[in-house]
Amino acid sequence: MKIEEEQKELKDLFTTYWQYLALKTTCTLNIFDHIEQGENSIDRLSKVLELDRTALSFLIDGLCTFGFIKGKKDGLSLTQKGSLLTEEHPQTLKYACMLWGEEHLTAWQHLEHTLKTGQPSFEFCFQKPFFEWLAKEEAANKIYHKAMFEYARDDYALITNFIDFSTHNVLMDVGGGLGALLRAVRKKMPNLSMYLLETESVIKLLPVNYSNLFSAISGDFFKEIPPLADAITMSRVIHDWNDAKAEVLLNNVYNALPSGGKLYLIEIIKENLKDGAALLNLNMQAICNSYERTLDEYKVLLFAAGFKFICTKPLNSLQSIIICEK
Ligand SMILES: C[S@@+](CC[C@H](N)C(=O)[O-])C[C@H]1O[C@@H](n2cnc3c(N)ncnc32)[C@H](O)[C@@H]1O
Repeated sequence: MKIEEEQKELKDLFTTYWQYLALKTTCTLNIFDHIEQGENSIDRLSKVLELDRTALSFLIDGLCTFGFIKGKKDGLSLTQKGSLLTEEHPQTLKYACMLWGEEHLTAWQHLEHTLKTGQPSFEFCFQKPFFEWLAKEEAANKIYHKAMFEYARDDYALITNFIDFSTHNVLMDVGGGLGALLRAVRKKMPNLSMYLLETESVIKLLPVNYSNLFSAISGDFFKEIPPLADAITMSRVIHDWNDAKAEVLLNNVYNALPSGGKLYLIEIIKENLKDGAALLNLNMQAICNSYERTLDEYKVLLFAAGFKFICTKPLNSLQSIIICEK
């Protein structure tokens, strides 16, 4: 590549956050939802949402250029990409969009702290470990868990193609968020008994009809996991914790399972980090003081807890299922 092309690439890169934050603010202000519901002119939107008309028209110009909105000033509508950021779309990514511009962004703005100390810049900014802080922040807690649900809904949609749950009597998803994985399993396993173990602050966010699909248990997986299931899934959980915490958690999982019971970990194995995920490790350190592990690092933790390693299966282009047995 010519040096001029690289200069251009760099100059474009420096302001890519404008695009993301414009989009994030559009979601936070529910602008896409209002356009979807028929408030389709800048005048109408600025009136209904009490926004500055000039700033709003600059924002809409950008959103048209980047393919989220189409039409003229008084005939705005959403493109397919724009409608993916509305609340009611079945494949919505509205909260996934908002998540990264909240406390994660604050932590990333203080990345120097992590680089200089090896400690999470999140704790430097918010004075508490991430999940402890989240449980006490109602608005942030809702955005985080709805965002995780949106990722999980897509990531685990085909989980039953990879795990044969018919060999189990009872499944428990430990740290299962708003239950996306269990919802995917329920579609194929109408009679399997299923539990979600989560913190009280997450259980409160479950939709009213969840009990038709699974039972919810409020608890702390570092204290005790009730011995109710012969299969446990834990997805994107171990990667939130350092080795000392992960050891306590895996010991509790081991104690909760009967002999022959199975543990299915869903994680990104470090060897597979690439492209857009190449900085995920830095993100995990800055937020949670943790990291994505290699398969060997997972095996060390699993053996220490007493598990037998069975195999890994790729779930999608990034995540793997690590299967083990008590
Ligand atoms: C990164 S999220 C993963 C959620 C879901 N399994 C997924 O794959 O999208 C980690 C989950 O662990 C839960 N968690 C954190 N600390 C916990 C604790 N002490 N006891 C139970 N759950 C906890 C969080 O509430 C959160 O839902």
